[in-house]
Amino acid sequence: MNAHVQHDSLLPWADTAFRENPYPWYDVLRREAPVYRDPIAENTYIVSRYDDVVKFGKHPSLSMIAPSWVPKGPWSLFKDSMIVSDPPDHTAHRRRSNKWFTPKLANQWAQATAKAVNEAIDDLGPGGMIEAFRNLALIPAHHAMCAALGLPNDGYDTGSAWMHDAMTALGSAVTEEEEQRCQAAFDYLSDRVRHYLQMRRANPQPGVVSSWIEDVANGEMNEQQLFEGLLLFWATGTPNAAYLITGGLEIFARRPDVFELWKSDPGKHQAIFSEIARLHTPEISFTRFTTEELEIRGVKIPVGMMVRFMIASANRDPEVFTNPHEVDVTRSTEMNQHISFGVGAHSCPGMIISTAEANAVFNTVAQRVKRVELAGRPVYNHNDRSAAYSRLPLRLVI
Ligand code: HEM
Repeated sequence: MNAHVQHDSLLPWADTAFRENPYPWYDVLRREAPVYRDPIAENTYIVSRYDDVVKFGKHPSLSMIAPSWVPKGPWSLFKDSMIVSDPPDHTAHRRRSNKWFTPKLANQWAQATAKAVNEAIDDLGPGGMIEAFRNLALIPAHHAMCAALGLPNDGYDTGSAWMHDAMTALGSAVTEEEEQRCQAAFDYLSDRVRHYLQMRRANPQPGVVSSWIEDVANGEMNEQQLFEGLLLFWATGTPNAAYLITGGLEIFARRPDVFELWKSDPGKHQAIFSEIARLHTPEISFTRFTTEELEIRGVKIPVGMMVRFMIASANRDPEVFTNPHEVDVTRSTEMNQHISFGVGAHSCPGMIISTAEANAVFNTVAQRVKRVELAGRPVYNHNDRSAAYSRLPLRLVI
């Protein structure tokens, strides 16, 4: 057993060492209490084994709608969108965005990602130094999303930093200070969204936003749905895509053989992408509420409880992934599927565009760069809900 594991709580959510590297704790949790009544977080059960997360994460009796004991925090500004609805209402919300993010359209939007990466490489100094999180991942990925939305693509550094604070409040054992920062984040992000809605009302452009504005005029969508839809797609998702892409670039730097394989064998791209997504799980967990008693592995979870499904733990469950902490591009991608994009009806609607963005970054770097080297320590910015980066210093050898 790992020497750093504490035993007073199996999941010390606020502990700095835990946030930096929670995997030793997950290893103990899966073995000793795969369905764990969390002593820290109110009315919460934690599910950590791969098979259970995949099976029960999509159980039809579980709901996204919070019971009355859950405090109305800053995220309660979402009242009428996919993250606070169950099927069948949920299906209508998803339909509004799905048609804009088909594989074909996603590849079209991701051309803006490739362009931004090319510009960043054109602008390299003689030493090839680059801060890869911002310049090869976050901003290029945001350009693709803005191409889809039909919005200007500037000013996202601030949005993304606030989004990190907003995600912290979806963790367990959230402090008052974290709640306040989340509120400030949504005050800012909501104001930007209202600004863009005003802009596209005055000056329509092809893309999601103008199309949704027309849907509101035709009575197919209401104002609140428009606002929340744009908040979800403009603000919330892209940092996750950027964390995943940055994770891939870090793997390319640490494992030149994997970068060489990406360059030489396009048939391996999916296997490499799967390993990147499995090991760099941007969304560590997702939650649901029980609407009836639910039994998992002999533990009876009463009605009205929160169940937190640990994606990051499931992705490294040794019952499913041999040598789970290692990059292994020979794993079968059919049998042992990572679940970084979630499971079931609420799984991520940003998966297709995130994948297209990642391919655009990796392909552009692979075409133009001989070697990717770490030029300093990566700066991670994990909390207990997001596995995040704030810096990845790289040297690109052209
Ligand atoms: C452009 C980027 C992205 C956008 C716009 C986006 C947006 C969203 C939205 C709106 C949902 C809620 C879906 C629903 O309730 O029906 C969601 C769910 C989710 N997303 Fe993404 N996302 C993006 C990227 C990512 C990435 C890169 C990951 C991880 C690799 C990720 C992981 C997830 C997970 C795990 C869920 C499920 C949460 C749950 O079931 O409660 N997302 N995403």
